[in-house]
Amino acid sequence: MQINNTNNSIYGDQILRMQAVLNNIITEIDLFRESAKAAGLDDPIEHCHGRIKSEESMREKLRKKGLPETADSALNVVHDAIGIRIVCAFIDDVYKTKDYLVGLPDFQLIREKDYIRNVKDNGYRSYHLILRYRDMYYVEIQIRTISMDTWAALEHHLKYKKKITGNEQLIVNELKRLADELASTDLSMQTIKNMIYEV
Ligand code: GTP
Ligand code: MG
Repeated sequence: MQINNTNNSIYGDQILRMQAVLNNIITEIDLFRESAKAAGLDDPIEHCHGRIKSEESMREKLRKKGLPETADSALNVVHDAIGIRIVCAFIDDVYKTKDYLVGLPDFQLIREKDYIRNVKDNGYRSYHLILRYRDMYYVEIQIRTISMDTWAALEHHLKYKKKITGNEQLIVNELKRLADELASTDLSMQTIKNMIYEV
């Protein structure tokens, strides 16, 4: 990919094209939802949010990783300049959405991480995909249930609060316990959904 670095943006001259890639995949997600509804099924997605990582947080990320602050690092080394978070009601919807996205013709699957089956030590759950649009732009997609999203949002808040002084282990244990409780609620909700749809 030819990146012109003459302006001051960390994304060089690519920002409009990145926005177009983001719009493209959001349109694909809308089509997926519409086709489910047209088939008389429930909407598999509760809500979905896409963003281009801000100039400031991209630069901060590159500094943290010890990478040069160039458009090449921002677009080709780091893979979340374009990011989408998809929140589903039920666990089976997470996997259906993932299968759909992996099958999109213009997007190649680069990496997937199933943090639902392979839960992170802290309790974080989510399905992560890195896709690449026409051999050029990487897109990071996080797909999770409402419960997983609630936990991740709260944990994110807490993580960036002032330096924890005491009780750190207790806090870590409590967050893990809450993540597991929410996961068990997700499983029960899925069981209820299956019972309803079997009738
Ligand atoms: P980078 O974080 O992009 O350097 O790569 P990585 O290989 O660590 O990616 P990973 O797929 O593990 O995480 C990518 C994103 O997922 C993060 O930027 C967060 O938005 C989210 N995420 C991962 N782990 C956690 C977690 O423990 N808590 C929360 N709240 N979010 C997380
Ligand atoms: Mg990370």
